[in-house]
Amino acid sequence: MSQPTTSRRTLGLTVAAAACGLLLAGAAQAQQAPLKVGFMLPATGTFAALGDFIEKGFKLHVQEQGGKLGGREIQYFKVDDESDPSKATDNVNKLIKRDQVDVIVGTVHSGVALAMARAARESNTLLIVPNAGADAITGAQCAKNIFRSSFSNWQPGYAAGVVAAGKGYKRAMTITWNYAAGQETVKGFTEAFEKGGGKVAKELTLPFPNVEFQALLTEIAAQKPDVVFAFFAGGGAVKFVKDYDAAGLKKTVPLVASGFLTDGTLEAQGASAQGILSTLHYADNIDTPRNNAFRKSFALTYKANADVYAVQGYDAAQMLAAGLNAVKGDFSKRDAMLEAMNKAVIDSPRGKFSLSPQRNPVQDIFLREAKGTNNELRGVAVKALADPGRGCRG
Ligand code: BEZ
Repeated sequence: MSQPTTSRRTLGLTVAAAACGLLLAGAAQAQQAPLKVGFMLPATGTFAALGDFIEKGFKLHVQEQGGKLGGREIQYFKVDDESDPSKATDNVNKLIKRDQVDVIVGTVHSGVALAMARAARESNTLLIVPNAGADAITGAQCAKNIFRSSFSNWQPGYAAGVVAAGKGYKRAMTITWNYAAGQETVKGFTEAFEKGGGKVAKELTLPFPNVEFQALLTEIAAQKPDVVFAFFAGGGAVKFVKDYDAAGLKKTVPLVASGFLTDGTLEAQGASAQGILSTLHYADNIDTPRNNAFRKSFALTYKANADVYAVQGYDAAQMLAAGLNAVKGDFSKRDAMLEAMNKAVIDSPRGKFSLSPQRNPVQDIFLREAKGTNNELRGVAVKALADPGRGCRG
């Protein structure tokens, strides 16, 4: 009787040890498995070039870290969001449900990003927004798993209002696309401009991504305001700046713009853009070792000059790295990882920045002037500007 009992015990121990070994091996494998990063960015349409540079910037940082973040290899997944909010929920679910990514990096368009933020909140997927400025993402719709490496729409708009009021302009007109980014950027401009003693006489808009500016330019010419504030980006910005010049307005009504009007676009805008003043959290010729090294590395890798979108993509990777390094790549230590991301000081080409409690960069907004193919630094429009994070309860 004793013989079979002993061998049953031995067998039991052997099975337990084998199971334990399997579990440990599984854990080690999970530890080493590549981290799945899903890019949801525009690859087509007026913002296609912006998406391309965000992806290039992100991958540049990963490459500089030897192809790993927090010791983990990175596996990339991609969805073209077409800057189309009506397709955004389906598109983001391709990454969340089909590809089961660990992290989503996206996107450019505020309306698309708002739908992504909703899906990320509901599925508790880590989301890093590398451009879209929709205020609610780090405001009323904030969540502990949603971070931004770029800006809120309010930030460059507010800084432009400070600059325009400081120049003594009293009567402004604004012109933009009628969607979250345009509306919120104009709201930021108006807040600061009117606080500084100016008045926005009229807000002109057209639907995104329409570029039929002629009727609106005719209205500006008729009204003759002291200054025009504009927000456009990508292909639409190229057309707007050329049309503004062709309408004769460049010589008669000064433009003060959100910096996206002239970022990544100067080559295509040519003479029409020269001298345009704008506000943004980056300027091409910030003369620091960090920015110079970044621009050199970007140019060597991609045979192209970096712009603000490349910086934002690069910094999205830096933010993810800060979280992963704190937990040695163990994505299951989620709370510690998110806390490390929130507390990180990011050594960005734009200058070091930290995140607000709502997880949006607190950063200097620069005044720049378009010269040749550079947006040259002319000063700091507003130092360490923090988005108010209105309505955030998380
Ligand atoms: C936006 O939709 O938030 C956006 C798009 C392009 C440049 C900047 C902001």
